[in-house]
Amino acid sequence: MILREEVLKVLKDHQGEWVSGEALSKNLNVSRTAVWKHIKTLLEQGYQIQSSPRKGYRLCTPADLLSPEEVKPGLMTKVFGQDKYIYYRQTDSTNKRARALAMEGYPEGTVIVAEEQTDGKGRRGRSWYSPINQGIYMSVILRPTFPLRQISRLSLLAAVALAEALEETGLKPGIKWPNDILINGRKIAGILSEAITDMDSIEFIILGIGININNLLQDFPDDFRTSPTSILAEHGLPGSRIKLFQRLLFSLEKHYDLLQLDNFTPTLEKARHLSVVLGQKVSFDEGGEILSGTAIGLDDNGFLQVRDDNGTLRTVVSGEISQLT
Ligand code: BTN
Repeated sequence: MILREEVLKVLKDHQGEWVSGEALSKNLNVSRTAVWKHIKTLLEQGYQIQSSPRKGYRLCTPADLLSPEEVKPGLMTKVFGQDKYIYYRQTDSTNKRARALAMEGYPEGTVIVAEEQTDGKGRRGRSWYSPINQGIYMSVILRPTFPLRQISRLSLLAAVALAEALEETGLKPGIKWPNDILINGRKIAGILSEAITDMDSIEFIILGIGININNLLQDFPDDFRTSPTSILAEHGLPGSRIKLFQRLLFSLEKHYDLLQLDNFTPTLEKARHLSVVLGQKVSFDEGGEILSGTAIGLDDNGFLQVRDDNGTLRTVVSGEISQLT
């Protein structure tokens, strides 16, 4: 354990109580200046620590931060977020950071997470609302070995993993193809995957995920295509970001490992089961023309199969669909 983690552990063991600087420095066998230096870093990370010249230090509220100190101890993955876990209190976009790190050669399974994004990216040039400490804003670097033509499986895989993690909080998520996660028709999470490809192979993929957790509905800006929701809004109680993040990484890794072994079937079955569009009337863009029909299936690559209004079977490979009522 590095010293900062040890300081945090002592404060956590005495949550809500004062611990003197002297006791900390004696216990950890370092100077009081070194203790103060680490307290300062913890404060910068967002821990609420009071300090008093006479009494020492006191950790106030239990932290629900996504720092490595909080997330890694309960993280059940083999690779994702284990060796390379990059944590920002604030950054522009975790996808942007991840892309730069992947270019530098960071390995598969590197996780980048931020408490706040100042330029969070959504799909189709939209932005992703990312206020501090209220959601999960994360990206993972993937270096898959499967062929480029199977790349779209990944978006569906991420949607399934997200839905599984949300199910464990007691919610009933649905997947709106390709990868919006909805609760009763409102969007709780989104996925932005970006790929760097080289002729017919994949160099790397950045899988970015944003989840609304402790947001109040009235705080969302009102330019959303689909009305947003959050765990707080659905449950009426704040959710643990740490637990949800640990479950999400676990589920992502589980489905990704299967996919790497060319076993996409369990993921696809779950996606079919969770789909809110199968059997529904939808409209979609086919080369600039807006067509409508009935969504009837998901093929082996995760593409949407639609029977159009003239009875022709169409495969929708990308873009957005609108649900018609
Ligand atoms: C969507 O439009 O539905 C996709 C939203 C994806 C948002 C996440 S938040 C973490 C990662 N970094 C970004 O800049 N965007 C993604």
